[in-house]
Amino acid sequence: MSEAQPRIKVRGLTKIFGENPLPALRLLEQGKGRAEILAATGAVVGLQDVNFDVNEGEILVVMGLSGSGKSTCLRCINRLVEPTAGKVLVDDIDVTALSEKDLLAFRRTRFGMVFQQFALFPHRTILKNVEYGLEIQNVAPAIRTERALAAIEQVGLKGWDQHFPSQLSGGMQQRAGLARALALDPDVLLMDEAFSALDPLIRRDMQGELVTLQKRLKKTIVFVSHDLDEAIALGGRIVLMKDGRIVQQGFAADFLANPADDYVRRFVEHIDVLGVVTAGDAMREAACVAEWSTTADEALGRLEQSGDPAVTVVCNEGRFQGTVEAPTLRGAGTTPIRLLLSDQDACVVESATLTSAVAKLASGRGEIAVVGPDRHLRGVITNTDLVQALARRNGSSAGTAR
Ligand SMILES: Nc1ncnc2c1ncn2[C@@H]1O[C@H](COP(=O)(O)OP(=O)(O)O)[C@@H](O)[C@H]1O
Ligand SMILES: [Mg+2]
Repeated sequence: MSEAQPRIKVRGLTKIFGENPLPALRLLEQGKGRAEILAATGAVVGLQDVNFDVNEGEILVVMGLSGSGKSTCLRCINRLVEPTAGKVLVDDIDVTALSEKDLLAFRRTRFGMVFQQFALFPHRTILKNVEYGLEIQNVAPAIRTERALAAIEQVGLKGWDQHFPSQLSGGMQQRAGLARALALDPDVLLMDEAFSALDPLIRRDMQGELVTLQKRLKKTIVFVSHDLDEAIALGGRIVLMKDGRIVQQGFAADFLANPADDYVRRFVEHIDVLGVVTAGDAMREAACVAEWSTTADEALGRLEQSGDPAVTVVCNEGRFQGTVEAPTLRGAGTTPIRLLLSDQDACVVESATLTSAVAKLASGRGEIAVVGPDRHLRGVITNTDLVQALARRNGSSAGTAR
């Protein structure tokens, strides 16, 4: 992920709500707190010195409790809310410096928005709703119908184009809302609690579908959510906000491993550890590795010294071949180890979550290898390592009892 290019750069973004924001801005710069500024000036600090990048083709989740500044942040990106200070750069174009006219054109061609309220026109068919943005852009009728139908198909609503919004379920209406944004083929999708009004099961489906759609269409998505499970399901980086500021940004697993403060710790307290910690996070170096020409006697000697439950066998190029345990090696003398391999399937890729590692460990012999995409050995996880990894996480959250 190191080659990812920032598509959007948010720098020093600050928003103060109120008639006269400048005195409040000055107090903010002097280090005064939100409550103090509200009392002194009547102005509400919505965002304070927010900095983050959104990379090309990623789903970045802006997360936080209600009132933490998520919507303000999202709306400052396309200036539906006018920032008080700071910059937003999209492909190095300074959105905050655009004239009103240029801004409208920029918004229309670059950004698609999807909200929690589907905001469909009740008296227009789904097709006419999805065509709406294209209509405003004066796209020729035949072309806009073609593009709208393609978008309707992308979100799984094929055949529903002549229906009216009230004839569709909430989930389907939200799909139509998404189709309306996609019909304009924007580079950047801004989604504000887009799935929060949906029933949990439908919500899950939509999260999965958005991930699939995003992989296919390669949009850059900023997704606002107050729900950690949703952020994890979307699988991307998370910017966690509190009181208008960013408390931490990174992957959910980073929040677990190194929470910036108690707020973050509390946020991730009930996280499904197995679902977010990767095999790569939990592995350690294999203590007993042997190439496949190693003899059984030699491997047994090494295994007993190492304390590992099994010998991890690799080929000359370091690719994982399988494991062998002590009982198999005993009495096998000078037999090369490659003839004694037992479990060739005892491995997971480093990006897999611990859920798949647990499944393999449960069916195996207490140790699995962790490999790169080409089966190159990266490390191992034993039953003991797994239990220790879980105990560490629980230990850290147990310390935060309120
Ligand atoms: N138009 C507004 N006028 C005054 N205060 C506002 C306005 N919009 C938002 N706020 C305040 O800014 C803060 C952040 O709000 P918001 O971005 O809507 O939070 P979130 O989306 O995380 O729930 C809140 O304290 C909210 O009351
Ligand atoms: Mg909001």
